[in-house]
Amino acid sequence: MSNQRVLVAYGSTNQGTAGLAEEIAATLNKDGLTAEARPAAEVGDLTAYDAVVIGGGLYAGRWHRDARRLTRRLQPQLRERPVWCFSSGPLDASATEKDIPPTRGVRRAMSRFPARGHTTFGGRLAPDPKGRLARSMAKRGMAHDWRDFEQVRAWAHAIATELLGRR
Ligand SMILES: Cc1cc2nc3c(=O)[nH]c(=O)nc-3n(C[C@H](O)[C@H](O)[C@H](O)COP(=O)(O)O)c2cc1C
Repeated sequence: MSNQRVLVAYGSTNQGTAGLAEEIAATLNKDGLTAEARPAAEVGDLTAYDAVVIGGGLYAGRWHRDARRLTRRLQPQLRERPVWCFSSGPLDASATEKDIPPTRGVRRAMSRFPARGHTTFGGRLAPDPKGRLARSMAKRGMAHDWRDFEQVRAWAHAIATELLGRR
């Protein structure tokens, strides 16, 4: 066991990214760390955490506002801890098939601290999502869950390995 505490902070409108964050936290806990997933907007301070994972849903090429804001608000504390980032994501199989680099907007947010890594996971469009545009996309038949939880667990496992110094 390790007493390292890890925060998985997420920006999510329709809870797809929240589900990814929960899976990452669950994997880190299984691997022996002490992790919790929390909405980024509710995180006011990082003193209780030794490492941070930040995730955001992608909307028109930009990271979810709550994820962007967290990188601004907590920049000094993020610079003092190991940080990993993820985006979610494409409404097709592309994120499972290949490595998708961070968008320009995500890179800008990540430039505020030295991130150890970034990955893009497939997204989810719920059948009855929040947001006019999201609802019209769902009506056009785009509602589907493209999240690859095996890929998510593998990524989280690599973070645990690095934090536990087993590489
Ligand atoms: C209006 C709208 C715009 C989107 N724009 C993008 C985008 O630019 N790039 C992308 O990969 N996915 C895009 N998506 C897909 C979302 O990122 C995906 O549904 C994600 O899982 C949403 O996360 P959430 O459920 O946590 O809010 C968009 C979805 C909607 C509804």
